[in-house]
Amino acid sequence: MTSKAIYVQAGGGYDKVQVGTCAASAPKAGEISVRVHANSLNYHDFAVVSGMWGPTEPRIPMADGAGVVTAVGEGVSEFAVGDAVVSTFFPDWLGGHPQVEGFASVPGDGIDGYAREQVTARATSFTHAPKGYTHAEAATLTTAGLTAWRALMADDALKPGDTVLVQGTGGVSIFALQFAKLAGATVIATSSSDEKLERLKAMGADHLINYRKTPAWGETVRQLTGNRGVDHVIEVGGPATLEQSMIAAAIGGHISLIGILTGVSGQLPLIHALVRQIRLQGVLVGSREQQQAMIRAIDANGLRPVIDKSFALEQIVEAFRYQESNQHFGKICLEF
Ligand SMILES: NC(=O)c1ccc[n+]([C@@H]2O[C@H](COP(=O)([O-])OP(=O)(O)OC[C@H]3O[C@@H](n4cnc5c(N)ncnc54)[C@H](OP(=O)(O)O)[C@@H]3O)[C@@H](O)[C@H]2O)c1
Repeated sequence: MTSKAIYVQAGGGYDKVQVGTCAASAPKAGEISVRVHANSLNYHDFAVVSGMWGPTEPRIPMADGAGVVTAVGEGVSEFAVGDAVVSTFFPDWLGGHPQVEGFASVPGDGIDGYAREQVTARATSFTHAPKGYTHAEAATLTTAGLTAWRALMADDALKPGDTVLVQGTGGVSIFALQFAKLAGATVIATSSSDEKLERLKAMGADHLINYRKTPAWGETVRQLTGNRGVDHVIEVGGPATLEQSMIAAAIGGHISLIGILTGVSGQLPLIHALVRQIRLQGVLVGSREQQQAMIRAIDANGLRPVIDKSFALEQIVEAFRYQESNQHFGKICLEF
């Protein structure tokens, strides 16, 4: 059976994106077939599609895929035909300590991803989706949702009463705000836009800082916390924001180094990390086990992702251009 798929030619670039077809085989032992209905966009997918980290060979992009099981191979008992499922970022990292370095096994980068209508893959490449979620909502969990979940709930479990700093209004930070509020934490949120800050407030953010108007926001965070600092930082900016995050952190505070929106290198005064005994941890999404734990929490609490806008599969370039424009608040999806 052939179905519609998006291809990015070697090297990447918007001019190298084409709509084509792909064949989906019947599932072998341990595999399932899925009719994919939605993707969500991430910066990493943008890097592959735009050519920033273009693929070395033609590639079907997109790490986040959600849809419905259409066939089940021999020996698969976890899924049945008709189940709603969502893909995992690391099909080989099922649980335990991090077992991956880089993106060689990641759908949409090292292997073909989910910008296609049909896929047959190992059953462990998916988990069940949360109950009652649309496919677009489920697709937001693979990368952004799980990264925020792991940073706060797995690597350094958040406690009620902790204070969390989230940067900006992208997919990861909004999930982090939601998970932090679910766990009874105080949230300090930053954005470049006062209008977006108002939306964060409506979602439960306790303190708001416009990082454009207040470039030395680390000190503002200290003032807001009675000079104690925050227990957790969701660091998505990278070199241009990490110094402020270290100033904002409490003694022994945990900084999850997640994003590099401001570049990959820079000069940093490490004295803040030393004297405050800050724990800086690189985070690369999470394991299948962590995804299942996150989905149990979502099912129990009814949390819904924030989706800014959806596009059709063929509008993938338009969708990435919209992401680049930075107008969005939360997730951007493809639905098909
Ligand atoms: N390590 C991992 O596992 C992992 C997983 C997912 C994403 N990431 C990375 O995390 C970063 C964010 O990803 P995302 O998907 O959430 O991105 P996104 O949805 O595209 O969001 C980007 C948002 O970040 C904010 N931002 C930009 N520059 C900022 C700065 N200097 N200070 C504070 N906020 C800033 C902006 O918010 P405002 O418009 O409100 O200012 C912008 O809307 C990216 O670098 C991505 O590659 C890493």
